[in-house]
Amino acid sequence: MRIAILGTGSLARLYGALFEADHPLMVGRQLGHYQLIESDNTMSWHIPQFQRWEEPAPGPWQVVLVAVKWPGMPLARQWLERWSQAETYVIPLLNGMGQEQALVPPLTKIQLSPAVTTDAAFRSDDPAQNIWRVLIKNHGMVHLTETGHANEFSLKQRAASLNLSWEWHQPDYMLRLRWTKLIANSVINPLSSLSGQANGTLVQLPLWRLAEPLCLEAENVAQSVGVPLAGTLKWVADLALSTASNRSSMLQDVLSHQPSEIESITGYIVRQASQAGIPVPTHQAILHLIHLL
Ligand SMILES: NC(=O)c1ccc[n+]([C@@H]2O[C@H](COP(=O)([O-])OP(=O)(O)OC[C@H]3O[C@@H](n4cnc5c(N)ncnc54)[C@H](OP(=O)(O)O)[C@@H]3O)[C@@H](O)[C@H]2O)c1
Repeated sequence: MRIAILGTGSLARLYGALFEADHPLMVGRQLGHYQLIESDNTMSWHIPQFQRWEEPAPGPWQVVLVAVKWPGMPLARQWLERWSQAETYVIPLLNGMGQEQALVPPLTKIQLSPAVTTDAAFRSDDPAQNIWRVLIKNHGMVHLTETGHANEFSLKQRAASLNLSWEWHQPDYMLRLRWTKLIANSVINPLSSLSGQANGTLVQLPLWRLAEPLCLEAENVAQSVGVPLAGTLKWVADLALSTASNRSSMLQDVLSHQPSEIESITGYIVRQASQAGIPVPTHQAILHLIHLL
């Protein structure tokens, strides 16, 4: 398949390796030959077909995976505006919400298949030494939105032939899954960033008292967009405990002085709440605190 991957970070490298036989084009700011290290320490080298954002990429592209962090989304959007065609099926893998608002247009709704992944990958680079590395902590699942696009079927066949754990679901199911994940991210990411603690410790902190209002406020907002959810607090606490040793991606961003994805997580909930006239004072306070941080 003709595949392009927008982004050159952790997830991009993982999918670049999984689809290696298709020689995907990887688009970003910089990337060299990279090392992929599995959790059992087996190691492989990968030679990406790399191109910078500004370089021409006429395609045609059957599938584009968007694996940037949110601050890179404007570049991804510009690239798609320039180089995607009606036949391009686009899969944003970013955490948080707002993919539709960011990418339709230039894409049409049927081209966009927002996805949620439980794969876990971390980059460990040393650009000064020209060393690019990704550590795979977990090979999980990718859940994708079924849109009926012509290339969806081809990608399903390709994913099956590669034995990938990729599953397509109806849009309603995916919206529910994305909101559930959004709520988990809106609790675990900022609370871990504010406390500097790994996920497992969070539930013991006084700060965890904010988890209940955060979940309830977000459930109200989800309800207002037709996604009824209940009991998310217990689910989020269980998730924090089952990923006890993890440092959330937002905590990692804060520690490495990178912009966080707070605007697509808490910011999204606050914006949706404001449109629906729903009070979300705890999320507003958290948004403010993370911006200060
Ligand atoms: N890693 C995981 O296990 C995982 C799991 C589930 C979901 N996700 C989500 O997947 C998305 C990608 O995560 P990741 O872990 O692959 O992130 P990452 O390793 O930090 O890579 C992010 C990519 O985005 C680019 N980028 C970020 N800010 C940019 C900017 N302002 N301008 C241009 N490019 C920019 C980076 O470019 P540079 O390298 O040049 O900075 C890099 O190519 C995120 O939304 C994340 O929350 C990740």
